Amino acid sequence: MPVPFLDLKAQYASIKVELDAAVAGVFERCEFVTGPTVRTFEEAFAAAHGARFCATCNSGTAALHLMFWGLGIGPGDEVLTAANTFMATAGGVKLAGATPRLADVRADDFNLDPEQVEARITPRTKVLLPVHLYGQCADLEPLREIAERRGLLLLEDAAQAHLAGYHGVHAGHQGRAAAFSFYPGKNLGAAGEGGAVLTNDEALYQRICRLRDHGMPEKYLHAEWGHNYRLEGLQGAVLGVKLRHLPGWTAARRQAADWYREELAGLPGILCPQELPGRSHVYHLFVIRVTPDSGSTRDAVMAALQQAGIGCGLHYPRPVHLQPAAAELAYREGDFPVTERLAGEILSLPMFAEITRAQVAEVAAAIRNAVV
Ligand SMILES: Cc1ncc(COP(=O)(O)O)c(C=O)c1O
Repeated sequence: MPVPFLDLKAQYASIKVELDAAVAGVFERCEFVTGPTVRTFEEAFAAAHGARFCATCNSGTAALHLMFWGLGIGPGDEVLTAANTFMATAGGVKLAGATPRLADVRADDFNLDPEQVEARITPRTKVLLPVHLYGQCADLEPLREIAERRGLLLLEDAAQAHLAGYHGVHAGHQGRAAAFSFYPGKNLGAAGEGGAVLTNDEALYQRICRLRDHGMPEKYLHAEWGHNYRLEGLQGAVLGVKLRHLPGWTAARRQAADWYREELAGLPGILCPQELPGRSHVYHLFVIRVTPDSGSTRDAVMAALQQAGIGCGLHYPRPVHLQPAAAELAYREGDFPVTERLAGEILSLPMFAEITRAQVAEVAAAIRNAVV
């Protein structure tokens, strides 16, 4: 039985009636760019995370850019983030004209290691930017302590962490602001591109609302230079419908993660992701590690899964500091050993809210066959 990596068709089938009605409403009202439906979604998304303000925009990359731009982070400033992340984290920093700097991650949560951070802070460092990779929050308390002591802004790349929790508080307002992505495959995905910044800071929120819309606080009054980063009305309508289902979908992902852990228990060398104490993981991705103790390799296991018709992926096969685009940052192989080791061991298994126990068992059986 083939198992897809992600099944957006199953998701659509489960909410088709609601979604089609919401989309038709956008056409009937011709509410194509921003508008009341987008504003309603913004209020609901902020409330779902316990944040005061949400400014949507048209991608997670735009959200990162707007967050830095709105806070005046730019040329000459450094933003310190995780070496193990999607390239857009560093790309958002570049868009603001600032310089991304990297620190290594922990092997237990795949996220920015607070113990690696201080040695990488320079007089130019202005921001600490943990990434809540795969849906588990970074260890925010020690990062907040470092940020406060060293006079840095704490911002979050929460692109993969809708409704993720850290000691009872949602991702999205652990620091001054947080960037989310609504790329279709995300836990909350648009029918196209989308993103948002959450913040409790009203002045920052107002500025981001201006910057995403040509610097306009009101129509044809341009208080400053801006950009067109507005969210489409259709995406606001789709996201508004899907947000109502997100708590249920998140619970289903957590259930699937438990099934995987049961099915894969005791397999030598196969390490399942752990949910660390105090964190609420939302399993955007379920990333196992295939270590040498498995007697196999990650690439061999991946090939076996593909052979069996099982979708899988690598998030991410080549770390940021070893990407050609990042050559100017002058990092070298060996600079971030944990990130580099993980890049050769990680394997993302099928994970979506509609996945069944039988599908999880199928994936686990294929892994078992590949390593035993
Ligand atoms: C960690 C991380 N940051 C930023 C982004 C950028 O978001 P978008 O693709 O919506 O621009 C993504 C999207 O994949 C991401 O995973």
